[in-house]
Amino acid sequence: MAKTILVASGKGGAGKSTVSALLGEAFASKKHPALLIELDSGLRSLDVALGVSENILFDMGDIIRNSCEIRDAVLPCPFCEGLSLIPAAAKPVTVTSGILRKIIAELSADFEYIILDCPAGIGGALENAAECTDLALVVATPDPSSIRGARSAGALLSSAGIGQRRLVIERCPQKAKNLSPINNLDEIIDGTELQLIGVIWEDPMTRSAMDSGKMLSFESPNYETFRSLSERICGRNIPLGFK
Ligand SMILES: Nc1ncnc2c1ncn2[C@@H]1O[C@H](COP(=O)(O)OP(=O)(O)OP(=O)(O)O)[C@@H](O)[C@H]1O
Ligand SMILES: [Mg+2]
Repeated sequence: MAKTILVASGKGGAGKSTVSALLGEAFASKKHPALLIELDSGLRSLDVALGVSENILFDMGDIIRNSCEIRDAVLPCPFCEGLSLIPAAAKPVTVTSGILRKIIAELSADFEYIILDCPAGIGGALENAAECTDLALVVATPDPSSIRGARSAGALLSSAGIGQRRLVIERCPQKAKNLSPINNLDEIIDGTELQLIGVIWEDPMTRSAMDSGKMLSFESPNYETFRSLSERICGRNIPLGFK
């Protein structure tokens, strides 16, 4: 049975799709097959990150309309064995918890991890995804409005009954002095009221991996960061590695 992980943020652009794609890549490279499901209908981006934009025949919209089998919409990533994607619907649709449950039940034996890349905000899409989730990763950047949004998302996920809610700090400056107006990471943790599970560095190689549909460079400071995050999720006791 696959473990389902939801990736959310309050504010848009916090780095949900980046975390979803590179966490999936880290799982797959450690021989844990991973499926990404992009829920941001009408605003796809993971197909670009995985380099499969030209290969899309079916997407979430087709699954919802019953115009394809669920498996027909699963696209393997060409540069990362064990990583696959169900692309978001091209036009806005409602992805109900019933549809998500059906997809997860059908594909659960093929994947160890199913990652739900949620739309920004704390609306119905997040509530529906929450009904099918084992672990929620809430993404926040060191920006006061992003921190506030993450706290709201965390509160919604708590009301939805998700016991395991963790914070991923995204786009963290590699020099502490650039954190301003936040003084330190503790302020982000306190502000979101979530337990920290990973810190992703601001890094041009990470952005370019997402834009170019290629594997994250070994030289990126986030290469090891995502592998450590994946191992923490697998239950290993990997130190956060900064202070
Ligand atoms: N660690 C990072 N270093 C540099 N750029 C990053 C990093 N993480 C994300 N970005 C860039 O920030 C932008 C927003 O990231 P992303 O698309 O992952 O956010 P999102 O939360 O999925 O956005 P949306 O709410 O629109 O779905 C993208 O251009 C991405 O390449
Ligand atoms: Mg996104």
